[in-house]
Amino acid sequence: MFAYSASDLYCESVPLADIAHRVGTPAYVYSSQAILGNFRAYHEAFGDLPHNVCYAVKANGSLAILALLAKAGAGFDIVSGGELYRVLKAGGDPAKVVFSGVGKTADEVEFALEQGIHSFNCESEAELALIDALAARTGRQADAAIRVNPDVDAATHPYISTGLRQHKFGIDIAEADGVYERARGLRNLALRGVSCHIGSQLLDTDPLLEAVEKVLALAARLRAAGHDIRHIDLGGGLGVAYHAGEEAPQIRAFIAQLRERLKDTGLAVMVEPGRSIVGEAGVLLTRVLYRKKTASKDFVVVDAAMNDLIRPSLYQSHHEIIPLRKSERPPIVADVVGPVCESGDFLARGRKMANVVPGDYLAVCTAGAYGFVLSSNYNARTRPPEVLVEGSTWRIVRPRETYDDLIRGETP
Ligand code: LLP
Repeated sequence: MFAYSASDLYCESVPLADIAHRVGTPAYVYSSQAILGNFRAYHEAFGDLPHNVCYAVKANGSLAILALLAKAGAGFDIVSGGELYRVLKAGGDPAKVVFSGVGKTADEVEFALEQGIHSFNCESEAELALIDALAARTGRQADAAIRVNPDVDAATHPYISTGLRQHKFGIDIAEADGVYERARGLRNLALRGVSCHIGSQLLDTDPLLEAVEKVLALAARLRAAGHDIRHIDLGGGLGVAYHAGEEAPQIRAFIAQLRERLKDTGLAVMVEPGRSIVGEAGVLLTRVLYRKKTASKDFVVVDAAMNDLIRPSLYQSHHEIIPLRKSERPPIVADVVGPVCESGDFLARGRKMANVVPGDYLAVCTAGAYGFVLSSNYNARTRPPEVLVEGSTWRIVRPRETYDDLIRGETP
């Protein structure tokens, strides 16, 4: 959905330079066609297998994106009361919401119960007891799944790998049978599912399939023991191509494999994809402020910084950086850095890139997931606007913050 036509980079049918001129930089721009295309790839590949594609709100919680997905029939995976609030404001159906996370508070659980969400993915026995007690108070029975830790190595960045025994997530799959057994006594909790999530940005799907086998084996044991298990939730995790030419898993092909594996189990299946729906659907536009040469390096100083996109600084992640207008000048090798006062503030290091001059615009690619949501006001920088492109039209779905926004609610 982002491609050059002649020398200009377009998002769908809109030249990105038009947006940059009108809204200024830095700015996030999302392609609605890309987002919907990815969602439909999941939804359609499941076919007639009972399923619920619960978009992981944490990847990008922009109301406009949630609304697009809600209209297309998506469910939502949330990890906080705030994310549930966003889903509701965007017109999402609470009956298709699953609540994940290792540290749900009582307030959040109550809010979710009041709204009638589909299911809680529980991560400890103490949490099961809390949800049971709060459900009793509201006079409802809460549907829940236990998130098991299947002890498989997701082979991804250590900060976003979650499925090994040493991680804080889930209940060790070896102990799960006992936990389901003890939970029978919780009258206001209906344990109807088994869930897992082994990590994010997985470029190899074998660990996911290994986890599926373990989860299915557990579900079969639980059913044999008389538990009314109706669904499995396989979490998110499919990776996207951050490097030009990198091969990322194909959504349709992966889901077709899952479907084959699940079609005779009688279980409904849920997935919680985030990055693979919005990652490649977004770019961060930025403008070159200065070129600067030191004895050892060439720097391109741009107006976007680690507060706008923290992934390179936090996970050493690579994002392609390409010009909005191609030039004939020979490429350079440079560090692309922002105005924040830290050496850790960089978008790329030692990067072969376009030979830009001050005033030129660049697109930091594959920034739709874990981009804006992880942005901050560090250095009292206003957060960038978000723009949604739909065909040949576009609109600002969140304006650039103002200085007043920066101090809202504060008293001197
Ligand atoms: N479900 C659960 C329980 C999760 O913890 C996550 C992501 C997802 C679903 C969605 O995973 P995805 O399909 O997006 O891989 N900030 C990091 C990524 C953190 C992922 C956290 N959990 C980054 O920028 O790479």
